[in-house]
Amino acid sequence: MNYDVKNLRLADIGKKRIEWAEQFMPVLRIIRERFSKEKPFKGIRISACLHVTTEAANLMRTLKAGGAKVVLVPSNPLSTQDDVAASLVKDFGISVFAKCGENRQSYYKHLNAGLNQKPNITMDDGADLVSLLHSKRKEYVKYIWGSTEETTTGVIRLRSLAKQGLLKFPVIAVNDAKTKHFFDNRYGTGQSTLDGIIRATNVLLAGKNMVIAGYGWCGRGAAMRANGMGAKVIVTEVDETKAIEAAMDGFEVMPMAEAARIGDIFITLTGDINVLRPEHFRKMKDGAIVCNSGHFDVEIDIPGLKKISKSIMPVREFVMQYTLSNGNRINLLAEGRLINLAAAEGHPASVMDMSFANQSLAAEYIVKNRKKLSKQVYPVPEKIDRLIAALKLKSMGITIDRLTPEQKKYLAAWEMGT
Ligand code: ADE
Repeated sequence: MNYDVKNLRLADIGKKRIEWAEQFMPVLRIIRERFSKEKPFKGIRISACLHVTTEAANLMRTLKAGGAKVVLVPSNPLSTQDDVAASLVKDFGISVFAKCGENRQSYYKHLNAGLNQKPNITMDDGADLVSLLHSKRKEYVKYIWGSTEETTTGVIRLRSLAKQGLLKFPVIAVNDAKTKHFFDNRYGTGQSTLDGIIRATNVLLAGKNMVIAGYGWCGRGAAMRANGMGAKVIVTEVDETKAIEAAMDGFEVMPMAEAARIGDIFITLTGDINVLRPEHFRKMKDGAIVCNSGHFDVEIDIPGLKKISKSIMPVREFVMQYTLSNGNRINLLAEGRLINLAAAEGHPASVMDMSFANQSLAAEYIVKNRKKLSKQVYPVPEKIDRLIAALKLKSMGITIDRLTPEQKKYLAAWEMGT
């Protein structure tokens, strides 16, 4: 078995952590048990480009239990948990090519290693594998039956490929499942982003002015949780409807040009580039903390920040302090990469349980329906979404009402009005 991980001696710690996460992933466990019996992936090669975490490890175990030959590569150079990578190789016999802190060259070497097994299915978090398959590794497209995509940014890239008529195989937008984005993006990002900021800085959030750029599901989650911790939340938006929603949720809404003067802590969660730029840094208070929780490290203009700084120095793990020519210090966390995965452990397992249940069932769906699928971006079938919700509710010991026959009839009728 081929692999490239930092240190196999970390495996014992990794195994304990993978098993710890497993306790909080009951839906994935049920799927794994079924897959062990039915072997839906017998003889199938799956390459996954995901954050290498304890939760992703449990997804890899699930796919392997289903008979797949699995290779795991990173979806971010800073998010790999080296102990998990080691344990997957040593204890679970899964090929992993990932090292925390690797440079761009090593990152792409690992992604290419993921494609070297000629996968039938790829799983992406950010569409990097699909992007390689459409550029430098086109010769491998012939082996692909389909792909799944975990995150909003990836789905946007894929829709753009499909819109231009360039998409070469079917893709399932796992992110868009209700049991994914309502929970992972909102509660997962909400908690883990604050966790990352706290682990990196140990700052008290209560009483701070916290500027949240972007009020999508991730921004909503971060704003809600920051509010709960006593921060005064300011939202910046470019979408009118989301801005109204933020205002009616009780947050101040203003342009970044104004928020820059007031904020103590800034978080970008927009999916777009250069949301924080030199014109904003120049207005920030001395000691402002700046971080990103969007998928790519493009939301903060770091080259622009460097240009206007007279000195740059690390002041803590994960904190780089930029001193501007006006003397103000701006503290950039985790090199502008996903703060929740770089400085903390990503979303907690109970929420990744649903996201990765979607990934496993979407992959099974591709296998079963590969003859019918065309080169499009598909939603996760509603049946799968509902099944995951039902299993999660059951695992939480929650029961819900059922429609009476009379209610069903009413909902299906048009005749009954005023
Ligand atoms: N994305 C956000 N949190 C994650 C986690 N814990 N594992 C994998 N991907 C993630």
